Amino acid sequence: MSSIHPPGPAPTNLLRLLRGPVAGGRAGYFRRLFQEFGDLVHIPVGRDGFYLISDVDLIQRILETDHRRFSKGRGLDNAAVLLRQGLLTSEGALHERQRRLIMPAFHREPMRRYAQAMTELSAARAASWQDGQVLDMAQEMMHLTRAIVARCLFSHQVGQDADSAIDRDLTTLVQTFAAPGAFLAPVWMVEKGLLPGTWGAPAARRRMDAYIRGLIRARRAAGADDPRAESGDLLAMLLAARDEDGGRMSEDQIRDEVMTLFLAGHETTANALSWTWYLLSEHPEADAALAAELDRVLDGREPTEEDLPRLSYTRAVLSESMRLYPPAWIIGRRTLQDEVMLGYGIPAGSNLLMSQWLVHHDARHWPQPERFRPERWLDGSTEALPKYAYFPFGGGPRRCIGEAFAWTEGMLALAAIARLWRPRLVPGHPVEPQPLITLRPRHGIRMRLERRA
Ligand code: HEM
Repeated sequence: MSSIHPPGPAPTNLLRLLRGPVAGGRAGYFRRLFQEFGDLVHIPVGRDGFYLISDVDLIQRILETDHRRFSKGRGLDNAAVLLRQGLLTSEGALHERQRRLIMPAFHREPMRRYAQAMTELSAARAASWQDGQVLDMAQEMMHLTRAIVARCLFSHQVGQDADSAIDRDLTTLVQTFAAPGAFLAPVWMVEKGLLPGTWGAPAARRRMDAYIRGLIRARRAAGADDPRAESGDLLAMLLAARDEDGGRMSEDQIRDEVMTLFLAGHETTANALSWTWYLLSEHPEADAALAAELDRVLDGREPTEEDLPRLSYTRAVLSESMRLYPPAWIIGRRTLQDEVMLGYGIPAGSNLLMSQWLVHHDARHWPQPERFRPERWLDGSTEALPKYAYFPFGGGPRRCIGEAFAWTEGMLALAAIARLWRPRLVPGHPVEPQPLITLRPRHGIRMRLERRA
């Protein structure tokens, strides 16, 4: 194997990376590396080193074609403190079995039920606003998507009452992942809640744990794990799931899955919606086109799941928003053996980073990459793109299991709210992406609500 490293910056140490370019704008730092060094960049930090990969064919090979040669990356070690053996963090045979068991909960029939809850909760939130009111849309969207996932998962009314204990605990836990350094900090620091602003996390984790276990036991006691039970929510489906030899999930496993789906299932969609409101406010012509489509298709009523195929501009708006601001902005993997990539030797145990943020802005694939232009999704120009020029939901066997859920939720929430309201950015409010585990707006998005005539 070649001992020559791919090009990259001078060696740095973890602390500098955490404090300096990372805290100050990790995405900007990666973008500079990509511009200076190209499709494969060696970042000599720590024992194993990081490699930043922006070649779309290589990304396809890692996530899809040769996926067995790679494991999940370093960034998820810390997420596993909370999510343990859940779907996002588990590996190998356990992951394969769990994915098979959970998949039916995202099929068409249950999705219809979730869709009803999505519209209902979005409309309820929209009805609680007043003309001229100023609010933080990022926070509003976080509450909304949390309420939706809680209702679809276990029929809980969380988010209706923002002060409820479970809502507070979830906020604390999400902040653990949002804390500066959460991505690279040693696992024990995350476990003990030692990162800035996360001291409450261990207690919140214990309370959430007890809460979810309580729900599972109550359901089991009520006979909800009978496979013939009429299942309404996702928890009921997890309890009823059986593999080929009749085995079912342990209480620990269900806890891990519920926690994973809860966390993975709301923060990303909230970010997608928040960035969408911002972009629509900055692009009145796109906002007008969206409003026209909603008027035409919905004719004054709430959206339903059956409307989705006809809401093509709504879908294009979300697609373009997730291109410019991919809610999951980076994916990590680790090499299990020595590899050769683009002619360079990459040793076993290396950390690979693939960033949607970089690829979605790459001018080799996207003409005028910085422009928000939903029309590019409707004029056929995206059809000829390489598969991994756009990968907001990842790819291969670890592709997002909640993708259909997220599209349904994103489109219904957008339609239910945008048919009534036009949120406008408060002039002067700074909008800046903050790339943590997900891509959030650093200062929230303060908007003034205008009722549509
Ligand atoms: C716009 C919204 C969303 C985005 C952008 C997104 C993005 C992603 C990405 C990129 C991955 C792959 C990570 C990797 O390969 O390392 C992933 C995995 C996952 N997502 Fe999502 N996601 C979204 C919504 C959801 C929702 C709504 C749910 C659940 C209700 C969910 C649950 C999961 C789970 C459980 C995994 C792990 C799947 C596995 O490894 O088998 N996500 N998501």
